[in-house]
Amino acid sequence: MDPFESLLENFHKVPVEERVLRVASWCGLHAQDLDVLSGRDSLSLGTAEHLIENVVGIFPLPLGIATYFNIDGRDVLIPMAVEESSIIAAISSTARWIRRNKGTIRTEARGRRIIGQIQIPRSKNPAASVQLLNDARDRLIAEANNMLPNLCARGGGIDAIEVRQLERADHGGEMLVIHFLCNPCDAMGANIINQVCEGMKPAIEALTGEKVGLCILSNLVDGNLAFAEVRIDSVDDETAYGIEEATEFAKTDPYRATTHNKGVLNGIDPILIATGNDWRAVESGIHAYAARSGKYQPVTEWKREGKTLVGRFEAPIAVGTVGGVTSLHPTSKIAMKILGVQHADELARICAAAGLVQNLGALKALATVGIVKGHMRLHAANLAMAAGATREEMPLLRERLTQLLNRERRINLTMAKEVLSEIRGN
Ligand code: MEV
Repeated sequence: MDPFESLLENFHKVPVEERVLRVASWCGLHAQDLDVLSGRDSLSLGTAEHLIENVVGIFPLPLGIATYFNIDGRDVLIPMAVEESSIIAAISSTARWIRRNKGTIRTEARGRRIIGQIQIPRSKNPAASVQLLNDARDRLIAEANNMLPNLCARGGGIDAIEVRQLERADHGGEMLVIHFLCNPCDAMGANIINQVCEGMKPAIEALTGEKVGLCILSNLVDGNLAFAEVRIDSVDDETAYGIEEATEFAKTDPYRATTHNKGVLNGIDPILIATGNDWRAVESGIHAYAARSGKYQPVTEWKREGKTLVGRFEAPIAVGTVGGVTSLHPTSKIAMKILGVQHADELARICAAAGLVQNLGALKALATVGIVKGHMRLHAANLAMAAGATREEMPLLRERLTQLLNRERRINLTMAKEVLSEIRGN
């Protein structure tokens, strides 16, 4: 058996202590890292105080590992911080299915440019201002880059300006929007670009004689796309057809596209959270990208190419591997070690792959047996806890709830409480 597969053997069944040791040996984690993972030495109130205002506590989430991923030829363990019971089970079993079928997962980063917007809300003379801005382009870029000596030294910085002339939504004249396009290297770049935009406001006002309004980044980072492709041969025809049809459903109906994309984000958000990235920024960018044609669309699509099932994901994923919470939160630092990536584009590509594989897992289940049984089987543990089972009572209550689910095809908290009461002999 290959070493990655033997590392993962019975991974979800072994005690958590052994699971942690296996991850530690694969990823080179140290004893201090294990203290962080166990919660003995995790985010302190002291650090939390520096992250946000009005801190009153810490809010822990489970951190799990998505297994069986081979992305661009590299075996990788993917840390995910998430509360939904079925996500890690589903993504791992789908990645294993791809692996066992000799499928491939390939990714690409397309562009590395974030956008800062400077708005002139009511242009008095749009044509003249556009001309002045275009003529001064090189000077404005140089002035903006003067604010970013360290980023420029690392090969990043502002490399283009675009001037957009838009009709106001209230039909009250023209709005100009100036985009400063920036390569933020391995930072997510929000603070960098916001400072540039606010810093450039006086220069833009002096040049155009117009009044500037908002200065802020755009989360629709369509110059910073992540792409992933999954190819699997020998998927049975009915399943492949069902998955293809699920794409058609999402392309046809925005009500379905929303849920389809939620399933994709099930694979992405937990990685963003685990690595201390701004998941709200990525979410808003992905949804806006999904709606760019004017109709909300799925961000993945699946089709049969001959005997091969092929899935593709493309959407903006602006993340950072330096700065921000990624370098401050003790668990995020370990998540980065587990992933074994250094650069922002590598992290974005892993997110794209995870989103696509998570989506495949959901569509495969929906197109065949449905998701309820698998989901509720895992949810049985939550119900058992909510019913008040002790640690000793948990295994028996879970087993009884699984039997009940197989028989009745549904379980809920009331049923869990009744079964617990029977177990206790009441
Ligand atoms: C549940 O968290 C996600 C799904 O609804 C996604 C989908 O329907 O594609 C299963």
